[in-house]
Amino acid sequence: MRDYILLYINGREHRVSGEKVFAPVTDYLRYDLGLCGTKVVCAEGDCGACTVMLGRLHGEDLDYKPINSCIQYVFQLDCSHLITVEGLKHNAQLNPVQEAMVECHGAQCGYCTPGFVVAMCSMFDDGKPKTACQIKDGLTGNLCRCTGYEAIVKAGLEVDLSQWEPIAKRYPAGGFVKAFKSHLKESVSITWDGKQLFVPADVKAACEFKARNPETVIVTGGTDVAVNMNKRGLVPDFVMATSNLAGLSDIVTRKDGERTVLEIGGRVTLKALEDFVSDLSEEMKYVMWVFGSPQIRYAGTLAGNIANASPIADTPPMLFTMDAEIEATGVNGVRKIKMTDFYLGYKKLALQSDELITKIHLPLPMSDEIVRLYKVSRRQHLDISAFTAAIRLKVTRGKIETAAITYGGVAAVVMRLPKVEQFLVGKEFSLETCREAGKIARSEVAPISDVRGSRDYRLALAENIFSKFYHETAERELVCQ
Ligand SMILES: Cc1cc2nc3c(=O)[nH]c(=O)nc-3n(C[C@H](O)[C@H](O)[C@H](O)COP(=O)(O)OP(=O)(O)OC[C@H]3O[C@@H](n4cnc5c(N)ncnc54)[C@H](O)[C@@H]3O)c2cc1C
Ligand code: FES
Ligand code: FES
Repeated sequence: MRDYILLYINGREHRVSGEKVFAPVTDYLRYDLGLCGTKVVCAEGDCGACTVMLGRLHGEDLDYKPINSCIQYVFQLDCSHLITVEGLKHNAQLNPVQEAMVECHGAQCGYCTPGFVVAMCSMFDDGKPKTACQIKDGLTGNLCRCTGYEAIVKAGLEVDLSQWEPIAKRYPAGGFVKAFKSHLKESVSITWDGKQLFVPADVKAACEFKARNPETVIVTGGTDVAVNMNKRGLVPDFVMATSNLAGLSDIVTRKDGERTVLEIGGRVTLKALEDFVSDLSEEMKYVMWVFGSPQIRYAGTLAGNIANASPIADTPPMLFTMDAEIEATGVNGVRKIKMTDFYLGYKKLALQSDELITKIHLPLPMSDEIVRLYKVSRRQHLDISAFTAAIRLKVTRGKIETAAITYGGVAAVVMRLPKVEQFLVGKEFSLETCREAGKIARSEVAPISDVRGSRDYRLALAENIFSKFYHETAERELVCQ
């Protein structure tokens, strides 16, 4: 058992133990190491000022991704290499991204600038030029209050890539890989001031720790837990970081009859899922693309989104409607739980105290099914939904054969709408049917008013989303018949 976190920052080794392990990464960088280029504005993942690149073992290499360091804790970083804005210089000179930002006047007060620079460096590390659209897309997680985005996007368009030195060349992977591989064999246990951290080396050790300490807070991407720690006073006595459970990071496909099913590991990030489904399902790709920002999607996971159990989380409606299943592993082995049985009440899960989510089985839509996923929020990116819906119909010769309907944001938990489903089966697929289904849906839900929307607004959405669904899909249906 190890009693320290092994972490490299800008190529230098750090062995961290005691109090500092329980600190946000930004505190450690700024106050312990004097790396003040990484800024903190919101401390909740919304602005990108704290963006750093995090490299984790991937085969014989390190895979670097941009993340928000304000919502990562040092205990999550065992066996990783962190690159801050200070570590991106080219031989003590500005790198091509920084040069372009200067030339194009991409900074005024400069507070947001390191975050933009790190996010852009990570975008350009593949050595390929980007369109304005791609640059904007890569920067949805970075806010600037004074320069305006035009100059920043222009800088992105003018980066001189002939001068770009890839991260892997600047920081050769060999040394890290050897150190990480030997350290990953051991679990980490650190106790300080009544708090205990456990970083298990395998799932068995994770379940045993959780069985002994049922109140353990699991941290995977940390994009929910760290916000609760930074802003809502969460101070867990027992924390377990899943970062070293390497076997949970894969997505594989299998067949269930004609249907393709994805098996998504419990540590698979939202970005990895977005990339995987991009050729398989336009709807799923879209709903993953509007999820948070790149920094959130590179850290956050599907398992975390499910276990966080928010009624307005973006992925559960798709999982409910596609009849997904959760694979939970505990000390007595593995069992499957239907997604529709997973929430027992507000933030109450059907998991035993020793269990964690190790896999999600997600059936994909068949070519003869119409599936639409809706996220209604005040802006397209980096916003929490007011209302979500997932509608799946199989229509044969104009008649609805099967229906699976799920809404989020209309009750304490995400819910299927059995009355609407029953009504739809056997009906003609028409605007009239969809309008009637909307009315039934309205009567089947009981939303509350909160900052994201009033009760009346949500009731109106519950009803009208069906007409939208019809208008969006009927044309395709007619062509297919
Ligand atoms: C700026 C910002 C934007 C966001 N945007 C969106 C958005 O657009 N849509 C949306 O739905 N959410 C959004 N979120 C919320 C969050 O990013 C997601 O819920 C994310 O999927 C959480 O994943 P994670 O791995 O970071 O979870 P964590 O924070 O690590 O954990 C979340 C919960 O799941 C539990 N948990 C984690 N892993 C497991 C496991 N393997 N087994 C059992 N329990 C586990 C944890 O104990 C915790 O209760 C946003 C958050 C932020 C900060
Ligand atoms: S400080 Fe705003 S995202 Fe980290
Ligand atoms: S330059 Fe001031 S916030 Fe962006």
